[in-house]
Order: sequence, then structure tokens, then C-alpha cells
Amino acid sequence: MKVTVLGAAGGIGQALSLLLKTQLPAGSELSLYDVAPVVPGVAVDLSHIPTAVSVNGYGKEDLDSALAGSDVVLIPAGMPRKPGMDRADLFAVNAGIIKTLAEGIVKNCPKALVGVITNPVNGTVPIVAEVFKKAGTYEANRVFGVTTLDVIRSEAFVAELKGLDVATTKVPVIGGHSGTTILPLLSQVEGVAFTDEEVAALTPRIQNAGTEVVNAKAGGGSATLSMGAAAARFCMSLIKGLQGEANVIDYAYVEGNTGDAQYFAQPVRLGKNGVEEYLPYGELSAFEQKAKNDMLATLNKDIQEGVDFINQ
Ligand SMILES: NC(=O)c1ccc[n+]([C@@H]2O[C@H](COP(=O)([O-])OP(=O)(O)OC[C@H]3O[C@@H](n4cnc5c(N)ncnc54)[C@H](O)[C@@H]3O)[C@@H](O)[C@H]2O)c1
Repeated sequence: MKVTVLGAAGGIGQALSLLLKTQLPAGSELSLYDVAPVVPGVAVDLSHIPTAVSVNGYGKEDLDSALAGSDVVLIPAGMPRKPGMDRADLFAVNAGIIKTLAEGIVKNCPKALVGVITNPVNGTVPIVAEVFKKAGTYEANRVFGVTTLDVIRSEAFVAELKGLDVATTKVPVIGGHSGTTILPLLSQVEGVAFTDEEVAALTPRIQNAGTEVVNAKAGGGSATLSMGAAAARFCMSLIKGLQGEANVIDYAYVEGNTGDAQYFAQPVRLGKNGVEEYLPYGELSAFEQKAKNDMLATLNKDIQEGVDFINQ
């Protein structure tokens, strides 16, 4: 397996690369690309960890070499939030970065599975898809917005609130990846029931958990360590699918089949071609149904902004 991290010298990129160095299957290659001059040093640093995963660092001019032959590409390149910003404020800076990197994927590894972490995910995933569509290389089953951080936050908060074993706590999260477009399905958590008050308090806590980190870091960026863990977990799901493991199911923001919006986070079964099957998200409570309906205007606007960036 060749796994490439674009933006590997950043806060998420370094945490993610560290976890991949220790978790990827033996014999894998970890390819690290960034425009920051420190990236070869990050690769040397990681190469001293004794695992059977080779690490190569590529600087600004070497995007083609970094991407060539990649099976999986993860993209945390671009600007994070500062206090007072919401994810949509990042679009102006990050859209152009994502476009350039997507063009590099078209040229060097058009069959790779691509996980987009860069915000605003609601709009950066459509940008990647539109670049691929223009090039004639788009396959919806290979492009993912990484929403795993919403899932792991939900697991952590639910387990804490209800005194559950966090290792076995599962919380589905659907929709998009910003504010009210993040919708945890608390009604589907097995073995526990939530009061209306708990749902009314926990849902916004999960939706605003990113802002909790941004404010606590006080200008020092957004979630990097939890995001690194989330992206590594999602990458390992992709790898298991590629290796033919049965029944690998995860949640991601995809151009799927829920009928809610063109792109929507839903459960998917992963396999050798990325998504093998789009799965239904099941029955919603009245609260969740309303929250889903209420989010769609925002989500559709975010998606359109991404589509328009490439086509206008
Ligand atoms: N999906 C999520 O759940 C989630 C969670 C947290 C953060 N994010 C987003 O991830 C992104 C990265 O966050 P971070 O905290 O790691 O930021 P960071 O500033 O620490 O790192 C970003 C890295 O991207 C690099 N970069 C910039 N332009 C590039 C280009 N053209 N090619 C390659 N690399 C480039 C920078 O040099 C830097 O090393 C932000 O957009 C942030 O909002 C997403």
C-alpha cells in the first residue's frame, strides 16, 4: 500500500503521519508532501521509528513524485480556523489549494481513494469531485469527506455522559461537517436512552466541539491530535477494504444515495474499489428528522459553492 498525506507537515499531517507509521500494514510506503520546507525533516524523524513502513518526504516542487502510484491519498493541506471564524470562512484560501492537489491526483494516481480533511469539507469534497469530473476520472465511490472526527467525538461524549465502555460505544453521524449540518443519531445508540434534555444539550455540543478546541487553543489553530486519530482510523478502514476484509463499514461524506443532498455523510461498506455499497442510515427520531430538514439549505449552499468554484 502506498498512502500519501498532502499537507503532512501541518498539525494534523504530522499527528496522522505518526499514527500511520505505526499502524499501516508491513511493507507499506508512507509518502509525505507539503509546501513547508520542514517536510523532509518530518520524514527523517518518522523514519527512525522501527516499523516496516518506509517514509519519504517530498517538498513543494515534487507533488508528482509524492502522488505517483498512491493507493490512498489523505488531504489535510490548508488553513485551519482561528477564534471567531467558522469553517466557511476558510473557503477563499483552501479552495485553490484543494483544486491544485486534485489536479495532481488526476495526473498521477487517478484510481486512488481520496480522503478530504481540509475545511470546509462540505465544499472541498465537491471541488475534488468537479476536478475529477472535468478530467473524466471521477468515480464517486473513491472520493470521501472525512467526518470521522464527528464520530469519535460523539463516541467520547456519549460514553462519558452515560458511563459506557467507550471502546464499544458506536454513534452514527450523518449530514455534513460544519455546525448544524453535523447530525449525531443519538436515537440509534444501542443500549441507552436519552432524555429530550440530554439530546437538546448533547447534539449542539457535538456540533460545536471543533469550536471548543479552536477557542481553547486561543489562536493556535483547530483540532489536530484528535483529527489525526480520526483520519488514521478512517484510513485503516479504507486499507482494510482494499485488502479485501469483509464487512468494513464506516461513515463518510460521499456523493451517495440518501436523496437528502448531492453529498451527505452516511454509512458505507468499503472494499477494493472504495465504496462497495451505500447503506441506509435508518429511522430518525422526530428531533433528528427536523434537524436534518433544517440543515439542508446550509449544506446545499456549501456544496454549490464548491461546484461553482470549478465551473464558473
Ligand atoms: N475534517 C475535519 O474534521 C477537520 C478537523 C480539523 C481540521 N480540519 C482542517 O484541516 C486543515 C489542516 O489543519 P491543520 O491544523 O493541520 O493546519 P496546519 O496549518 O497546521 O497545517 C496545514 C499544512 O498544509 C500545508 N499546505 C498549505 N498549502 C499547501 C499546498 N498547496 N500543498 C500542500 N500542503 C499545503 C501547510 O504548509 C501546513 O503544513 C484545515 O483546513 C482545517 O480546517 C479538518
